[in-house]
Amino acid sequence: MDLLKICDLEIAPSLGNLKQFKVGILEVLVVNIEGEFFCTSARCPHAGGAPLAEGTLKGTVLTCPWHEAQFRVTDGQVLRGPASENLLVYKIIVKDNSIFIEA
Ligand code: FES
Repeated sequence: MDLLKICDLEIAPSLGNLKQFKVGILEVLVVNIEGEFFCTSARCPHAGGAPLAEGTLKGTVLTCPWHEAQFRVTDGQVLRGPASENLLVYKIIVKDNSIFIEA
């Protein structure tokens, strides 16, 4: 499995925050929950695909900024509609002061 670098740790989101990154054609969202990083697709799977980096994070629950669907960022599970699909989730590896995902 290849590793794809997302960012240096110094520009990763701080505790309780989220940040979008673009690597090639891939847009991902990196979330920092209590010092642990999680990575999901950056766009809501519902109509139009809202940029989830503009959503609201409370604990592990991310609320979409457009129609307020909710997702659990640790596993991408949709918790509340109108979205019906889960977020894609990427496994994060932290090494050499950088964040990678398995590609
Ligand atoms: S675009 Fe996210 S809930 Fe509609």
